[in-house]
Amino acid sequence: MNIAVIGGNGQLGTDLVRVFRENDDYVFPLTHADIEICAFESVKTCLQEKNPAVVINTAAMHHVDKCEQEPAAAYAANAIGVRNIALVTREIGATLIHISTDYVFDGKKSTPYSEEDVPLPLNVYGNSKLAGEYYVRTINPKHFVLRTSALYGKHGCRGKGGRNFVDLMLELARTRGWVRVVNDEFVSPTPTYDLARQIVPLSRCDSYGLYHATSESSCSWYEFAREIFSAAGLQVKLEIADSSEFPAKVPRPAYSVLENRGLKKIGLNKLISWQEGLETYLSENVPSPLPSGAP
Ligand SMILES: NC(=O)c1ccc[n+]([C@@H]2O[C@H](COP(=O)([O-])OP(=O)(O)OC[C@H]3O[C@@H](n4cnc5c(N)ncnc54)[C@H](OP(=O)(O)O)[C@@H]3O)[C@@H](O)[C@H]2O)c1
Repeated sequence: MNIAVIGGNGQLGTDLVRVFRENDDYVFPLTHADIEICAFESVKTCLQEKNPAVVINTAAMHHVDKCEQEPAAAYAANAIGVRNIALVTREIGATLIHISTDYVFDGKKSTPYSEEDVPLPLNVYGNSKLAGEYYVRTINPKHFVLRTSALYGKHGCRGKGGRNFVDLMLELARTRGWVRVVNDEFVSPTPTYDLARQIVPLSRCDSYGLYHATSESSCSWYEFAREIFSAAGLQVKLEIADSSEFPAKVPRPAYSVLENRGLKKIGLNKLISWQEGLETYLSENVPSPLPSGAP
């Protein structure tokens, strides 16, 4: 199958390219230099030329503070850009798999959000991503909208400076020996490799719709950090930080845990627990500690 991955050199995009190639699909990794989703003509020319059966859109403006400061740019990428992709994929008869976010919810619940819960975003990022979802759902009937959460992957998030939370924690532990992390924001940390593998079976079926797609179970950022240090075998002074120490400039949901109810219903939930996902990520991506006495 021919697959186009928009954002093909991004954090999730790179793993999608790898995983689909492992499955013997022909993949077009489309970087920002190849396609500008905010410009309809660019999207049309690029996708018509490649003529893929499936288009996966990972491109977004997703730096939350930046979106708040530049709402027009956020809507250009996350809403109008997505509309452009939806229109062109409908025209060429391609399935569109679009990546959305847990930030469409306000985080007031204390149990996981399912696809039936009403979204109510707290910030420009969440609102612009929700607008993008609606464009996909109303324009191209052959769609999967996948909401995910707290992504981390080998290639780092380009839109957030190229480093993920796991790598940041490991670096702080090694260079400073102590870390303070908030304990009042709950997520389901999801490795991009696991999400990419989840997308493969969806690309081969026609159970179109809106789905939540995150690692199973959830934790606070503090609990996530604790598990990272424990799994990496690092001795670190880890403390709970008061959220007033890191006053967020932009409101964020305190609880954005998602339940993969839709994927379970169609028998295609391939996602594993966040602890297992972390273990695999660390075993593949973190160099073993040097033996004592090594130079
Ligand atoms: N990261 C998270 O924690 C998280 C959580 C939930 C949902 N998500 C969603 O997951 C998706 C993928 O995230 P990610 O972490 O893989 O992001 P990423 O590493 O920043 O990758 C995004 C890719 O899209 C490209 N891109 C950005 N704007 C574009 C435009 N206007 N036209 C064409 N290409 C453009 C980027 O290229 P350049 O860098 O060259 O511009 C980059 O290759 C996003 O839709 C995001 O909203 C992310």
